[in-house]
Amino acid sequence: MKITLYLFAFLLAAKTAFSAAPGDKYIAIETQHTALVIRVDQDGDPTIVHLGKRLQNAAEYGLLPANEKRGEDYTKIYNSVYTPAGGRNLLEPALQVAHADGNPSADLRYVRHETQTVADGVVLTTVFLKDPQYPFEVMLYYKAYQNEDVIEQWTTIRHSEKKPVRLQKYASANLYIPARKYYLTHFHGDWAREMNPEEIPLTAGLKVLDTKLGTRADLFQPPSFLLALNQPAEEEIGEVIAGTLAWSGNYKIEFEIDPLRNLRLLAGINPYASEYTLAPGKEFTTPAFLYTYSNAGKGQASRNLHRWARKHRIPQGKGNRLTLLNNWEATYFDFNEEKLTALFKDGKKLGVDLFLLDDGWFANKYPRNNDQTGLGDWQENKQKLPHGLGYLVKEAESAGIKFGIWLEPEMVSPKSELYEKHPDWVIKLPNRAEYYFRNQLVLDLSNPKVQDFVYGVVDGILTKNPTLSYIKWDCNAVIYNAFSATNPNPSHLFVEYVQGLYKVLDRLRAKYPTLPLMLCSGGGGRVDYGALKYFTEFWPSDNTDGLERIFIQWNYSYFFPAIATCNHITDWGDQPIKFRTDVAMMGKMGYDIVVSKLDEKELAFSQQALQTYSRVKDVIWQGDLFRLASPQKNDLASLMYVSEKQDKALWFSYLVGNRYREGSQAPILLKGLNPSKKYRIQELNVYPGTNSPINHSQSVYSGDYLMTVGFNPQVDARRASVVLEVTEAN
Ligand code: GLA
Repeated sequence: MKITLYLFAFLLAAKTAFSAAPGDKYIAIETQHTALVIRVDQDGDPTIVHLGKRLQNAAEYGLLPANEKRGEDYTKIYNSVYTPAGGRNLLEPALQVAHADGNPSADLRYVRHETQTVADGVVLTTVFLKDPQYPFEVMLYYKAYQNEDVIEQWTTIRHSEKKPVRLQKYASANLYIPARKYYLTHFHGDWAREMNPEEIPLTAGLKVLDTKLGTRADLFQPPSFLLALNQPAEEEIGEVIAGTLAWSGNYKIEFEIDPLRNLRLLAGINPYASEYTLAPGKEFTTPAFLYTYSNAGKGQASRNLHRWARKHRIPQGKGNRLTLLNNWEATYFDFNEEKLTALFKDGKKLGVDLFLLDDGWFANKYPRNNDQTGLGDWQENKQKLPHGLGYLVKEAESAGIKFGIWLEPEMVSPKSELYEKHPDWVIKLPNRAEYYFRNQLVLDLSNPKVQDFVYGVVDGILTKNPTLSYIKWDCNAVIYNAFSATNPNPSHLFVEYVQGLYKVLDRLRAKYPTLPLMLCSGGGGRVDYGALKYFTEFWPSDNTDGLERIFIQWNYSYFFPAIATCNHITDWGDQPIKFRTDVAMMGKMGYDIVVSKLDEKELAFSQQALQTYSRVKDVIWQGDLFRLASPQKNDLASLMYVSEKQDKALWFSYLVGNRYREGSQAPILLKGLNPSKKYRIQELNVYPGTNSPINHSQSVYSGDYLMTVGFNPQVDARRASVVLEVTEAN
């Protein structure tokens, strides 16, 4: 990557039909295949003139027209890098402020920019902007990840006015994307039905994706989208931008087709009920907006994000994960030491690495025997666990299995000692009846004392039990009646809640850098790259029905890598255990079943599947994902992971419809292999007592053949899920 500043000679500009004027500056933010180009005109107005494929000859950025389409931009800032409200702007702003003197406008002019390599293959460009009339500055940061083609963009605002400035809108990013047509794929959902895609052509005006839920911010709509240019998003063709906001709270992403039919994109914290008062000398830094541009369809866009996440974002993205047995669906709140000991011994027999003790192990005055009480009182329940967590950790270890626990430390039950002691730590409004989400309330993490409490809960448990090996961190309530009794700026609550959460997680990660942490939110109510800076993995949904999961995992996979996606085999759904296991294997595998209820074949199959998983998991976790047949469009879902060296692949296919004789009627074309290598195909997870029709000894094909002619995995109603291992043959 190079950051290039081109001063344009008058001659060049004069010779072209473009409106590049003499003296314009061009700032090119480049990755291996992508460029975002900013033009600064003689008045110092910074605008975006290109976002897309990187040009071979960087000097030609100077030929880029000021606006791709003909027509009049009355303001000259439709394509501003950071559109300020209140002055000449006519469109949706990125920034809206009221200065110390009450002036409700901003003007942002280019001052300078700088570039530095901040890590191997990571280049940071900072563009400094200033209001000519006020000591008010905006810094735009663009971190360009060279090899992954991902740009991470955020903004810092500061001023030295005499009194505080009120920030009414403060986006992370403001992009400008000219195309003939725009197709937006966004996702919606609710509990147990997360990540349903919808693709729509954008029309003139605004389309908004947002949330106001505070916590569990993604419950209805996650902050991730695919934007296809000119034609609807295809898997391997077409121009696609995948974008996602790294923020675990209220967000707003706006798509505006402007009068020139170009697309303006604004992404950031939701300004809803969140005016931020910025004191002189202080800085406000927005969360980051992440995006990648692909001209080879949404498949490439998602592979870029996966590579980026594993290398640069998720803790131990290149490391190991633990297979586990969870007790939630096996016991719910009804357990004791004996029951648990039997369960984790069964876990050992099954062959998982860890036993995860879920909800219900804590609270005494108001014991956590159902979901009405006890959140906040993080002491072992003396009746259920008379010998404490330490005893169970040791028992598990001597049974040869690691031990982890469930926590929901941001929450409080109305019936809890914590609430009795600290009513002012709870988010609620005076003069309004309390209103509960899953019978609970949210602690006010904008309060530093609450941050200390939450940190102390987790740190205390880990200090007492130093070999505790896993934490599932849940978050089951949204914020109702948003108000902080202690925050001097009540409208800071939504923002400072998330900042407070990150402060706690920063402290925990500083002390426990390698502890595996699962991000859970009543299922997938909180899945974003802000939180995934701290969590090794996430829980996509409480819905673990094998069939449903194919769709849910498919759609998460556009943004998040398999290594971080926790897939558990449970009793949800009607599919046999083989089907559920094959589906769970497409990510980070785990169990939530009563092992002793498995019959002999089911147990043998599961034990074997865990061994197979341990052998092949690296290809699934670190490989490139290629989607071959979409469950959204077919009765068949098929996808494969290919190792970077293209010497191994894991190929998963499922029947998702039940029409007569449906299945893989024809060969499926593989992707991502090396055409000149030879591959052997072997079926995995063959259920005891059944035979695979895939002929092992003769199944050797070139990558070219497999990608041109394809191969039929022979999926049908009797073989509703098929896992094939594709290995380079010598
Ligand atoms: C949430 C989680 C579940 C389980 C329960 C426990 O719903 O998503 O996996 O941990 O809480 O109360």
